[in-house]
Amino acid sequence: MWPVDVACGAGLAIELARARGAACAGIDASPRLVAVARDRSPDADVRVGDMHAMPWPDESFDVATSFRGIWGTTPEALGEIHRVLAPGGRFGLTVWGHIKVSPGAWALAPFRLAASTKVGNQAAMVTLGRPGVGEDLLARFGFIDVERVGVPFAWEFSDPEMYARALASTGPAYEAIQNVGEPAFLAAAADEARSHVRDGLPLRAEINVVGYLARKPGATRRETA
Ligand SMILES: C[S@@+](CC[C@H](N)C(=O)[O-])C[C@H]1O[C@@H](n2cnc3c(N)ncnc32)[C@H](O)[C@@H]1O
Repeated sequence: MWPVDVACGAGLAIELARARGAACAGIDASPRLVAVARDRSPDADVRVGDMHAMPWPDESFDVATSFRGIWGTTPEALGEIHRVLAPGGRFGLTVWGHIKVSPGAWALAPFRLAASTKVGNQAAMVTLGRPGVGEDLLARFGFIDVERVGVPFAWEFSDPEMYARALASTGPAYEAIQNVGEPAFLAAAADEARSHVRDGLPLRAEINVVGYLARKPGATRRETA
């Protein structure tokens, strides 16, 4: 099994797949996150690069995954994933689901401190989770057998300050911090979290995440062997 994780970030998925015996590849635009991924999985082929122009030949992988790495604003990456998958190759993608109805929607609220154009872009990013949108896009890029699944997802933090620091390390927080400054962002995030503190329990934010499972047409190498 030869899987690639696209927009792999700090490489948790690669580490988990390796633990299950897979030899893995991964790609992410951030050199600092790729350094963490390589530290976790020294024998994996983890590259710094753009998921829209991956450095592997056609039909290199049996499996591709991307966990909240492809957005409504980056659909073309699906064409590149289709290219590097072997015939019959499987693809698993997760995206944010319906955030507003999620019990933990509060935990993403500080991102709205970004400039209004950036907040608009954030809304465009999360469209892939809407019913029919991801299915149509995957079909447009040539995937078949598209299946939608719900993915259990929760953030947990020990206290509001820890939550605020963790949130500040994310991409959308960077945009908010550019707009209001880091002290104001941290203060607003910690304030947001205080009303969700529960005695003796961690802060917990359950957020709807949608998963898509799909396949590139054709017989797999194993089926043709
Ligand atoms: C929300 S994070 C998800 C990271 C990882 N999949 C995880 O679950 O922890 C999105 C990731 O996409 C990466 N990214 C954004 N644009 C990219 C691009 N054009 N090519 C490759 N990676 C990209 C970011 O560097 C970031 O690590």
